[in-house]
Amino acid sequence: MIIPIKPWLDLANGKADASAFQRRLPSGDGLVLSSNWGRLDGLGEAGERDVCRAENIERMDFYHEPILAEEILEVLRPVEGKQIFDGTLGGGGHSEWLLRSRAHVIGCDQDQEALDHATRRLASFGDAFLPVRGNFRDVDTILAGLGIAHVDGILLDLGVSSRQLDDPTRGFSFREDGPLDMRMDVRASFSARDLVNTWGEEELIRIFREYGEERHAARVAREIVKVRSLSQITTTLGLAELVARVVPKTSGKHPATRVFQSIRIAVNGELEALETALEKSVEVLAPKGVLAILTFHSLEDRIVKRFMHRRSSPYVDRPEWTEPRRNPEFAFHLPTRRAIGPDEAETKRNSRSRSAKLRVAVRA
Ligand SMILES: C[S@@+](CC[C@H](N)C(=O)[O-])C[C@H]1O[C@@H](n2cnc3c(N)ncnc32)[C@H](O)[C@@H]1O
Repeated sequence: MIIPIKPWLDLANGKADASAFQRRLPSGDGLVLSSNWGRLDGLGEAGERDVCRAENIERMDFYHEPILAEEILEVLRPVEGKQIFDGTLGGGGHSEWLLRSRAHVIGCDQDQEALDHATRRLASFGDAFLPVRGNFRDVDTILAGLGIAHVDGILLDLGVSSRQLDDPTRGFSFREDGPLDMRMDVRASFSARDLVNTWGEEELIRIFREYGEERHAARVAREIVKVRSLSQITTTLGLAELVARVVPKTSGKHPATRVFQSIRIAVNGELEALETALEKSVEVLAPKGVLAILTFHSLEDRIVKRFMHRRSSPYVDRPEWTEPRRNPEFAFHLPTRRAIGPDEAETKRNSRSRSAKLRVAVRA
């Protein structure tokens, strides 16, 4: 059976047409939807979430298990008429929860395969769901292109999906052999193969240290430079075997895990995209709009934590000042300063949730 696919919006190619989506906005003008929910000063009571319990979600086929879905629903409170920007649509798992609570979702992903899948999965929600191909670092121009000034929530569930990781042709994993690729957006001209075969030794050492916290960064970089002087490194297993020769296996993890993580982060500019999107969230969130960020390693979490703390202190102080001064960067309240993690049941059900940390900030 062929399922009709609503064409995703490709802003880069000027194909955006959000008119149907906007016609359904309760505010009428389709521009600003102000939030009319109560204060979010705790993470309790969200009656709407019951609409969307896990057992109600029918999955078309396995793509990616949404992590901390109930907690995300509780903090985003996606009641009817709210507009939420899901910057990491992936398989559409989180978006489906939000849509079932009758929110409107702008679902953005840079990976066309993800968009196609999620668009098919969420077709029954009609105009309440608007898929957009793009990078979440461009959240401001994406929304402006759709004629939307502010949203009530932003969700970023960082990293790659299970589908991307498990598909050997995408080159993210060393479990099976595949081309050394790792591009989330296959239109990008720079892949893992380019990085591994052209970057200088010092630059390789830097990313293995900074993005992978790899103790044997110098050894790996030296081995890469040696091997590629004989012939190009082109496959995931080729790289994984090379790394395993020089990095001792110390934990249950494959010795190439950290090197693969750092190359993926560099190829996709992941940390820069996150930093940019966080800053832009200040402009595009409506008052009381919620920023919910799900991270999976300490580098990402540190960026989010620092941003939220810097932007949520009403006053700043310095030793040379006689008294604290107003913080010109103040923009958010933090319902909780601590990260929210998965419970035991979730980590048992889904091992990928183990390192998940959800941080939440509410626009002042
Ligand atoms: C962990 S998955 C999201 C899964 C999704 N929440 C679900 O429930 O199915 C991350 C997705 O975000 C996308 N992605 C990562 N960084 C992105 C970026 N900077 N801009 C747009 N999409 C991005 C990836 O292509 C991937 O599909």
